[in-house]
Amino acid sequence: MSWITKNSANQRVERRAQPYLSPEAKAHLEHEVLPRYETKHAALLPCLHHVQHTNGWIPHQAMLEIAEFLAITPAEVIDTASFYEEYWLKPKGKHVVAVCRSIACEFCGQPEITDAVREHLGIDVGETTDDGEFTLIELECLGSCGTAPALLIDETLHENVAPGAIAGLINAARSSAH
Ligand code: FES
Repeated sequence: MSWITKNSANQRVERRAQPYLSPEAKAHLEHEVLPRYETKHAALLPCLHHVQHTNGWIPHQAMLEIAEFLAITPAEVIDTASFYEEYWLKPKGKHVVAVCRSIACEFCGQPEITDAVREHLGIDVGETTDDGEFTLIELECLGSCGTAPALLIDETLHENVAPGAIAGLINAARSSAH
């Protein structure tokens, strides 16, 4: 595999006046979270979780603030945040449709499930609808191989899913209070 390099030297970081790590958030992390770790660096994951939980995703400005707060380099923060699939580095829709793409689901019709979601929402994997309602992603095994194919819509697991059920599941999510 060859590395694909990205020229990020000239990338502009979108900034807002209000910090993502507010003074209150810093005080909470300082007193409640950091003491649980031997080093400040080790508290990087909970700091990322905090921003994602409060903001829905982790903007570059927030990563710079975390780097400064923990006295580590921005590169270390970005390396970690981009390693874990759980962290969102771009805005996501109000609802997330996550189709399992691992082997049991793949054998049981996952490609048709992903296609049905693509077609119904008019987006590809990794994209968000223009109205900001839905993001489509694929994940590895959801632990429901015996009832493959499986998908998650927000926190709800759907099992033995047929392509014909996708429109109904998505419409139900759209009208839910999530
Ligand atoms: S392979 Fe899809 S749930 Fe395990």
